[in-house]
Amino acid sequence: MRSFFLLLLLAVAFTYGLPSSKKRFDGNQVLRILPKSSDEILKIVDMGKKYNVDIWNIPKSLNSTLDIHVDAHNLKEFVAELKSLGTNYMTWIEDLQKLIENENVHSSHVKSRAAASFSLSHYHSNFQISNHLDAVALSSRYATVHTAGHSVQGRAIKYLKVSSGGSKKAIIIDGGIHAREWISTAVVMYLIDQLAMNPDNNPEITSMLQKFDWYLLPVMNPDGYEYSRTNNRMWRKNRATSHSITGTCTGVDLNRNFGFHWNPAIGGSRDECEETFAGTKAFSEPESRAVGHLMQSIRGQAIAYLNLHSYGQLWLWPWGYTTSLPSDLADLKHMAGRGAAAIYPSHHAHYTTGGDATDLYPAAGGADDFAKGGAGIKYSYTVELRDTGRHGFVLPASTIIPSGEETLKGIIAFASELYAYERL
Ligand code: ARG
Ligand code: ZN
Repeated sequence: MRSFFLLLLLAVAFTYGLPSSKKRFDGNQVLRILPKSSDEILKIVDMGKKYNVDIWNIPKSLNSTLDIHVDAHNLKEFVAELKSLGTNYMTWIEDLQKLIENENVHSSHVKSRAAASFSLSHYHSNFQISNHLDAVALSSRYATVHTAGHSVQGRAIKYLKVSSGGSKKAIIIDGGIHAREWISTAVVMYLIDQLAMNPDNNPEITSMLQKFDWYLLPVMNPDGYEYSRTNNRMWRKNRATSHSITGTCTGVDLNRNFGFHWNPAIGGSRDECEETFAGTKAFSEPESRAVGHLMQSIRGQAIAYLNLHSYGQLWLWPWGYTTSLPSDLADLKHMAGRGAAAIYPSHHAHYTTGGDATDLYPAAGGADDFAKGGAGIKYSYTVELRDTGRHGFVLPASTIIPSGEETLKGIIAFASELYAYERL
C-alpha cells in the first residue's frame, strides 16, 4: 500500500511538476537613492550588507541613482539607518510581489509567424523557447538551429543561424546571460521572428540578410533562467554547485567568467555566495565556454557582438576589465551612437552610450571583453535594455513588443552603418 502511494505521488509529481518552494517577495521594496557623494554610496552599500540587500543598480556618476531591493522584514531598520545618514531616498517599487504577479499577464497574444500558438508578447519557459527555435528552423528558408553547448544541468544552449547563403560577415546577438533579465531573452525571440520569418516582405530586413549572417542565441543561462521562473524571480547566476568543499552557495556570474583578463578582484568576487562570483577560474562554466567557443568558431567572420542585458537603456563599449580604452575607440563610439540613436524614434526610449568601466563600473570576465579581446570581434558591446528602473528586472510582458521593435530598429541602423563604414 505504501509503495502504491509513493508511486501515485511520483506520477503526480511527474505530470504536474514537483511542488516547488517558490520564493515570495511580499512587501519587499525597491528604494531609489540619489547619492550626494561617492563616500555616501560606499556607506550605504556597506550598511546594506547587514540587511542582505540586493543592489539593482549602482551609480558611477553622481547624477545616476542607487536602486536597492530590500526584504520586507528589514525595511524598517534599513530605512531608519538611511535616515540617520541623512540620505534622500524614495520608495520606487512599493511591493515587488505584486509587480511579479502582474508581469506576464495583461499582454495581448502577438503570434509568432513560425507558430501561431507562440506568443511573442509573453515570457516563456526554456522548454517552450527551445521548441520554438526548432519550429522557426523548420518554417524559415534562412534559419538553421544549432547547439553551442550544454548547461551545468544538461540543458542545450541553442542558437539560430539566419543566413541567405554565401560567405558574409556575421553579427552575434545573445540574451539571458543573467537569469532574471527576461526582457533580453524575449527581445532576441522577437528579433528571430523578424529576421528569420519576415525577409521577403520587409526591404530593410531583406537587406540585412544580404549583408550579414546572424547568430541569435536567446538563453545563454538556461538553468538560471528556469530557476528564476520556478523558484526565485531575482536569480542572476547560473546553477553551478560544488565550487568549494563546503558547497555553501550556488551559481557563478557568467558575465564574470569569460577568459580575457579574467580577474575576480575587478568588479567580481571570489566568494561563491556573492552575486558576482567569478567562478574558480576563467571559463570554469560550461555556459560561458559554449558561447566563447561559438565566437571563436567563427573568428574572422564575426564582426559584431551584442550581449543583451537589462536594465538601464545603455549601449556600452569595452573594456570592462580596465578603465583604459581600446585603440579603436573612435570606431566603437561611432557605431554605438548610430545604434542608440536609432532606438529612440519608435517609442522614445532614450539610450545613453558609454564605456563599460568608464561609465558603468569596472568588471572583468565579461562576454563583451572576451568577444573583442579573445575572439577578435571588433564591434563588441553590452546593451542594457529597458527600462530605467520603473520596473527594473520585472518588466511587464506588454512592453516586450515595443522593446523588440525599437531594438530591431537600432540593430538595423547599426548593421547598415557598419556595412558602409567598414566598406564590407
Ligand atoms: N550589468 C552588466 C554586468 O554587471 C554590465 C557588464 C558590462 N561589461 C563588462 N565587461 N563589464 O555584468
Ligand atoms: Zn545583466
